[in-house]
Amino acid sequence: METTVVVATAFGGAEVLVVTTAELKEIQPGEVIVDVRAAGTNPIDYKLYSGTYGNDPSSLPMRLGSEAAGVVRTVNGELEGPSGPIHVGDEVIVYRASGAYADAIVTPASTVIAKPSAQSFEEASGLMLTGTTAVHALHTVSVANGDTVLVHGGAGGVGLMAIQLAVADGAHVIATASESAHDLLRELGAEPVRYGDGLLERVRALAPNGVDAALDLIGSDEAADVSIELVSDRNRIVTIVGAGRAGSLGIQAIGGGPGGDPGTEIRAAARLELVKRVEAGSLRVIVASTFPLAEVAAAHRELAAGHAHGKIILIP
Ligand SMILES: NC(=O)c1ccc[n+]([C@@H]2O[C@H](COP(=O)([O-])OP(=O)(O)OC[C@H]3O[C@@H](n4cnc5c(N)ncnc54)[C@H](OP(=O)(O)O)[C@@H]3O)[C@@H](O)[C@H]2O)c1
Repeated sequence: METTVVVATAFGGAEVLVVTTAELKEIQPGEVIVDVRAAGTNPIDYKLYSGTYGNDPSSLPMRLGSEAAGVVRTVNGELEGPSGPIHVGDEVIVYRASGAYADAIVTPASTVIAKPSAQSFEEASGLMLTGTTAVHALHTVSVANGDTVLVHGGAGGVGLMAIQLAVADGAHVIATASESAHDLLRELGAEPVRYGDGLLERVRALAPNGVDAALDLIGSDEAADVSIELVSDRNRIVTIVGAGRAGSLGIQAIGGGPGGDPGTEIRAAARLELVKRVEAGSLRVIVASTFPLAEVAAAHRELAAGHAHGKIILIP
């Protein structure tokens, strides 16, 4: 059976992305076919073919996309996913998916989670990667009720999740973003602050009693330097970008890459917690823009520009 897929045919910019057809992988016992209605994009997707993580030619052509939402077409056996039994016709999230930029994927039952009923496919396809990362980051620096937390990069995919989770747990959140995102951040319960020159003084003014923990979701020197000035316990500073400098600074680093804690168990467990919070109305996915799958190169140019306020979603 033929499917439409996106592949990176070389290492480079968005021009290397090609929309083509491929034979759907043969379904194995324990696997499910999902018709993809929406696929979430994430910076890792372009970093993989841009050469950030090497340029081994044997990884080409490279399928892309690690999260999707869609409808179950086929179930091979009596299968259960993390949220329970899986049936044909179920509306689901697939995470982690492999090659989610496609109109259909074959995936293990262990990656198939019931979609929150109140979410659109677009929203649901952008919930898991940023959400599980935000849960892991907040857990790593032990954010709790009453803490003041500084979030660098509050308007990005991970930032918007981290703000909502921390606010719901009773933290006072100060989050950096450019002015155009400040109303959105306020709506989510954070105090927005402009990044750039003078950030340290601006945060001090907003947090006269100090900052208990900081999340660096950007990887800039500014984020690291300001966090170190404001947070006395370096164990309560975490970066999700650039584990390299974290080692020398003595702050925590999470995610893939050398020295980063992958947090496999906490992230797997976070999937159901995220669904629960969406169902309870305390968490939402903010969609910045949607693109037809055929326009994946344009979507990736916007993604790589690094100033989206929310998720960029592909629609097959
Ligand atoms: N380690 C892990 O497990 C893990 C997991 C997920 C993501 N990541 C990485 O974390 C980073 C963020 O991911 P994401 O999905 O949140 O990305 P994203 O949605 O593309 O983030 C874009 C946001 O970054 C903000 N921004 C850009 N420059 C900034 C600066 N100097 N200071 C503060 N904010 C700035 C932009 O806001 P303005 O438009 O307001 O500037 C924009 O809203 C990426 O590098 C990604 O690869 C790591």
